[in-house]
Amino acid sequence: MIRFHFPPVLEDSIKYMEQAMRNGETCGDYSFSLKCREWLQENMGVVDAYLVTSGTDALELAAMCTVEPGDEVIVPSFTFVTSASSFVRQGAKAVFVDIRPDTMNIDENLIEDAITDKTKVICPVHYAGVGAEMDKIMEIAKKYNLKVVEDAAQGVYSQYKGQNLGAIGDIGCYSFHETKNYSMGEGGATLFRDDAALGDEGERRRESGTNRRRYIRGELDKYTWEFLGSSFLPSDILAANLYPQLLIAGEINDNRNHYWNMYAEQLADLEKEGLIELQKIPESCTRFNAHMFYFKMKDIDQRTEFIRYMMEDKKIKVMSHYIPLHDTNGGRKYGRFHGEDKWTTKESERLVRMPLYYNMGDDTVELIVEAVKEFYKK
Ligand SMILES: Cc1ncc(COP(=O)(O)O)c(C=O)c1O
Repeated sequence: MIRFHFPPVLEDSIKYMEQAMRNGETCGDYSFSLKCREWLQENMGVVDAYLVTSGTDALELAAMCTVEPGDEVIVPSFTFVTSASSFVRQGAKAVFVDIRPDTMNIDENLIEDAITDKTKVICPVHYAGVGAEMDKIMEIAKKYNLKVVEDAAQGVYSQYKGQNLGAIGDIGCYSFHETKNYSMGEGGATLFRDDAALGDEGERRRESGTNRRRYIRGELDKYTWEFLGSSFLPSDILAANLYPQLLIAGEINDNRNHYWNMYAEQLADLEKEGLIELQKIPESCTRFNAHMFYFKMKDIDQRTEFIRYMMEDKKIKVMSHYIPLHDTNGGRKYGRFHGEDKWTTKESERLVRMPLYYNMGDDTVELIVEAVKEFYKK
């Protein structure tokens, strides 16, 4: 079976992970965690960046810093569960808004209408590494005094109009899950753009809502419980895995883009014939991280048949993506859809993702493309 994803495995990661083990530095915030933190702060241009245990925890930490029971958060329905549930856990309600069919991101022109006096946060999701329309989103947030929490789980190293995804809103959330471009196995980071006080709150909520970090730095002689938080620190062994990947972030990005371009070029004919619709990268995406390669098929029936054919006949793992959240038990219980679902359900049913990972090899891409073409010849 051709795998759908495979995380980068670097010799330096193995060396550093062993080093962390042998030094007995295995809990959070030893040297590799701090190196990752510095790299993120410098390269993404934010005042604070903290490694956490997952993209979900990055969002939960952001939610703890931004919402209270009874608040509302505007979020697309076409996304991973925790883009919404992280805020719901804090007692907020998810207000789902339709997406744009070209990028599958929240339709920025529908946000304003969904705002009520309870709205506190807009949470755009940068699907497949392509930024949502952040200029407009930031303008709306400013007008209504809302916080913007970017779900940049898939957006690490991508840019929107020259700005790093995750560093445009007030808080940015990254995932370093095994399926992501840069991987700790399980992990993530929460980025605070420029509000040092908010970043400081993040630091304390990340340490179970205590000022323990300040105590460890020798700034206090004891630490105390201040407010609600949780234990979000990942092991330094996992940070040791991530750090060398961050050091070659550009190379990993180029490598992924190479395969993405191969797919796009070799499947262009099918698009010209009107058989598929390829993923579009807008001009605003000034640096693309090639997190995912997807295309859209005629409808859900054709996609079901295609996935069966690729998996069973060709032994190639391809995947659909999210079931829109508003159409799930959780979504109905904890959220509501504002406006019309013109694109969310329709477009999500047509979308299919191809394998794409660092160093997957030209041969693998060619084999997959051949299989796709054969499906359409039948
Ligand atoms: C858009 C989005 N948000 C949040 C997450 C959660 O990240 P994690 O799996 O690291 O908890 C993911 C991961 O799949 C994601 O794709």
